[in-house]
Amino acid sequence: TVRVPVVQELARQGLKFLPERFIKARNPSHEANITLPMFPSINMAKLGQQAEPGVRAQELAQLASCAKEWGMFLVTDHGIHPSVVHGVKDVVQGFFRLPLEEKRASVGSYASIDNMGYGRNFVKSEDQPLDWIDRLAMKAAPKGVDEGLLVWPQKPPNFRQVMEKYVEQARKLCDHLLQALAEALSLNPHVFIQNFDPECSEINVRVNYYPPCPQPELALGITPHSDASGLSLLTQFGCSGGLQVLKGLNWMTVPWPCDELLVNVGDLLEIMSDGRLKSPWHRVVAMEKERFSVALFYNPPCSTEIQPVEDGDGGYKKVVVGDYVRHFYEISPTLEKQAIAYAKNA
Ligand code: SIN
Ligand code: FE2
Repeated sequence: TVRVPVVQELARQGLKFLPERFIKARNPSHEANITLPMFPSINMAKLGQQAEPGVRAQELAQLASCAKEWGMFLVTDHGIHPSVVHGVKDVVQGFFRLPLEEKRASVGSYASIDNMGYGRNFVKSEDQPLDWIDRLAMKAAPKGVDEGLLVWPQKPPNFRQVMEKYVEQARKLCDHLLQALAEALSLNPHVFIQNFDPECSEINVRVNYYPPCPQPELALGITPHSDASGLSLLTQFGCSGGLQVLKGLNWMTVPWPCDELLVNVGDLLEIMSDGRLKSPWHRVVAMEKERFSVALFYNPPCSTEIQPVEDGDGGYKKVVVGDYVRHFYEISPTLEKQAIAYAKNA
C-alpha cells in the first residue's frame, strides 16, 4: 500500500502553497464552473401513503423528472429527526478534532478492505495525484461477526451509537425512496426494493473531511466519480458549495443548503433500472474553509444478482453486487473509465 499524508496535518501547518502531489488540472478549457440557482427538492411527506392523491402524483412526477435529469436531489420532510443529524455532526467533529495519534488509536484497522478505515483515500500508485481529503469509512450493516465492525472509532465514546441511530432512520428513508422511485417510473413499487434485505443489505458510511485548502483552485476534494452504491444519502456541515455534478460538459455546483439531505442515485440502481435512472458523475472541489460530509451507501447484499427491469433497451446485463463493487474499486484509481461499462453488453 502507498502511504499518503494526512491532509488535516498538512493544513494545520498553515501552508501558503499547495503541495505538488495535490495539484490537479481542475478545469480543462472545455469545462465551465456554474453555480445553479436552485436544485430539485423532494418532500418525502408528500410521497407518503397518507398524502392527498393529487399531491402525491405531482411529487412522484417531480421525483421522476429530477431522478432522470440529475440523478441527484434534495429531500425534505424525510423523517430523520434533526437532533439525530446534529448528533452525527457532533461526533464527527469530535473525532476529527482529536490529535492525530488519538484518532489513529481510536480506530481499529481493516486488514483487507482497502477502501475502509481512517485516513486513506484510494491510492494505488506513488505518482497518482492526491485528493484534498481525509476520510473515515466503516460498515454499519449487516451486523454480525465482521472484521469491519472493528473500525468504529472508540472516541468520542458515543460515536457508534449516534451513527447507528442515524443509519437506522436513513435506511427507512432509503427504503421509502426505492419504492417511490419505482413508482415514479411507472414500475411495480417492489422492483428495486426486492433486491434489498433488512438482515443482509450493506450500509457503509463514509465521513469525508476536507480541511481548509491553501490554493483551492488547484485541488480537488474528490476526483470525478459515480457512486458504486444502490442509493447514496448525504449530509454535510461546516460549509456548503463543494459538491459539483457533471451536466453535459459543465461542472455545476449543487446549491445544497446545509440542513437538507441529498440523495444520489448509484450505479447499482442505474443497472436495476436498465438505465432509466442515471448515476451522476460528480466531484468535490477544494475550498478555503473546512467542510465535512457524511455519505451513507445503501446496497443490496453482496451475493445478490441484480437484474435490469424488463422491457428496457438500456443494454444492461445482470451483475452480482459484490463483483460489481470489486470491479469498481479496481478501476476507480485511474477513473478514466466508468465502472458502469462492466454492466453493459455494449
Ligand atoms: C462524495 O462523493 O461521496 C462526497 C460528496 C460530498 O462531499 O458532498
Ligand atoms: Fe460520491
